[in-house]
Amino acid sequence: MTLFSRLLTAFGLVLALSLSAPMASAQVNPTESAVNEDALFQALGTAPVSGRVTIPDAKAGTLINTENKSWAALQGQTLHTLSIVAVVGMVAILALFYLLRGKIRIDSGFSGRTILRFNAIERFAHWTLASTFIILALTGLNLIIGKSVIAPIFGEAAFGTLTAWGKIAHNYLAWPFMVSLVLIVLLWVIHNVPDKLDLEWIKQGGGLFKKGVHPPARKFNAGQKLIFWSVVLGGAALSYTGVMLMFPGEAGTAADWQFYQTIHALVAAALSAIVIAHIYIGSVGMEGAFDAMGSGEVDENWAKEHHALWVEEVKSTQERNTKQVATPAE
Ligand code: HEM
Repeated sequence: MTLFSRLLTAFGLVLALSLSAPMASAQVNPTESAVNEDALFQALGTAPVSGRVTIPDAKAGTLINTENKSWAALQGQTLHTLSIVAVVGMVAILALFYLLRGKIRIDSGFSGRTILRFNAIERFAHWTLASTFIILALTGLNLIIGKSVIAPIFGEAAFGTLTAWGKIAHNYLAWPFMVSLVLIVLLWVIHNVPDKLDLEWIKQGGGLFKKGVHPPARKFNAGQKLIFWSVVLGGAALSYTGVMLMFPGEAGTAADWQFYQTIHALVAAALSAIVIAHIYIGSVGMEGAFDAMGSGEVDENWAKEHHALWVEEVKSTQERNTKQVATPAE
């Protein structure tokens, strides 16, 4: 037995012995009932369970706070419903959009010439952000709906293993998510400042609903700016509340912690729905779009139809550079 595991056993014993003399609030002997955890939790439905601990953190003496339990039950139900409505609702909207509009094609067809849209650093930042977000969203969703959706299908044991690994993934992948979030802000914030052009783009519905309509846009159109700011602000809110949940000692009182948890779950559900729409448009929904984040090069006709002003900017910069090379300094 290592020193650490001996200390851990000793600490467990001290806690168990202290709790075996509960401070009058619950009439359950936890040591006896501990053989059946479920029965213990049922029996403790209404009264808090407190004991005596010898460590400085007196809070550790409260094994179960019933107020928190009823809050968690209500919270679970509300978030369960909201998360399902957000995700399933968005999938339904996209399915309807696909049925009515179909895939958005390049009206003038592929030109065969390409233009660099995102360099390797931008693509690295995007895919780190995207892959970590997707795993964080799935492992987080599992905590909310896994017990009622995954457990009945795959069984308690599989659900337990999945959730244990999911929790580890959630806690550790939060860090590369935060780093890539900072990276995309540094790389793209300059292109996402709202301007007059965005109003025109919105007025024309971004050309998403009508064939042949292509409102002019620079590197990012109004729809993309909306995605960018949702990801940045939503991601920042998720990061802050997430760190508070990871370090409850920093979060303040139980009420503060509950507040962070509620915000974390609500923002996660809303952002997941928004990101599902983004993934649809960036992959199957729009011809030629994926290449921007795949190879980094997009077809020139795609670029002219969706980002005409950006193409002009790129071309004039290229021309200026060629002229400078062709005219040596005197
Ligand atoms: C498999 C999933 C995904 C695919 C296929 C995908 C695809 C794309 C594509 C093609 C672009 C460039 C669009 C253009 O050329 O203008 C893009 C941009 C972007 N992506 Fe993703 N993406 C995915 C997941 C995500 C996730 C999970 C996030 C954030 C959590 C994200 C955040 C962004 C942002 C902020 C931009 C820039 C703004 C925009 O174009 O909307 N992406 N993505």
